[in-house]
Amino acid sequence: MAKHKLFRFSENETFSNLIQLPYTEVIKGVPFKGKWNTDFFDKEQALILELGCGKGEYTIGLAKRHPEINFLGVDVKGARLWRGCKTSNDEGMKNVGFIRTQIELIDHYFKKDEVSEIWITFPDPQPKEFKARKRLSSPLFLNRYKKFLKKDGIVHLKTDNTAFFDYTLEIIKEFGHKLLFQERDIYNSDCSNALVEIQTFYEKKYLELGQPIHYLRFMLNEK
Ligand SMILES: C[S@@+](CC[C@H](N)C(=O)[O-])C[C@H]1O[C@@H](n2cnc3c(N)ncnc32)[C@H](O)[C@@H]1O
Repeated sequence: MAKHKLFRFSENETFSNLIQLPYTEVIKGVPFKGKWNTDFFDKEQALILELGCGKGEYTIGLAKRHPEINFLGVDVKGARLWRGCKTSNDEGMKNVGFIRTQIELIDHYFKKDEVSEIWITFPDPQPKEFKARKRLSSPLFLNRYKKFLKKDGIVHLKTDNTAFFDYTLEIIKEFGHKLLFQERDIYNSDCSNALVEIQTFYEKKYLELGQPIHYLRFMLNEK
């Protein structure tokens, strides 16, 4: 394994803003479940997740703009999470944390109504049909989110991938979720500043290639 990865993994062990639990402990019960605001963060305030956060640029960018909200970035890749943990640690940010886990286990981490919003930023598109269940906006994942997202909670999606965007629109329609807004090219529209000012690592790459960035937000049905 590359040296820098080993270094990052060992430094990850020292970050108090990173939670990484063995599978057996997750299944037994995540200690912060239902207590993120009181036991992990300094302040009791709304909680927002970014799923597949990579290096955490979006989580950190949102957290800087919204000190009145707590943010958790979630990803399985420790070497990427290291970047977000280190930056937010060095900057003394109190409203940011990270979880290293498979998002397949995300409903073990939060109790009912604990989360206000979810951001999904540039998810792996999983284009092969037999991998559709692995898409982060598949019915399987949306049902997991429903277990802890507040009733009027919002799911945001930013992606360069038109097929993934269209797939998500289809799922929203088919399962009776409520589409609140959609835009196929946010950098050539009058979308709000926050949407275009914070750019993730992958977003920058796609913008350099001249690809339009799609965005939508929706609320989960109540069924
Ligand atoms: C294309 S990258 C995007 C990263 C970041 N959001 C960005 O825009 O720069 C997708 C990220 O999602 C993470 N990811 C994909 N599926 C996942 C899963 N099932 N559980 C945890 N992380 C996952 C990957 O590890 C990767 O870091």
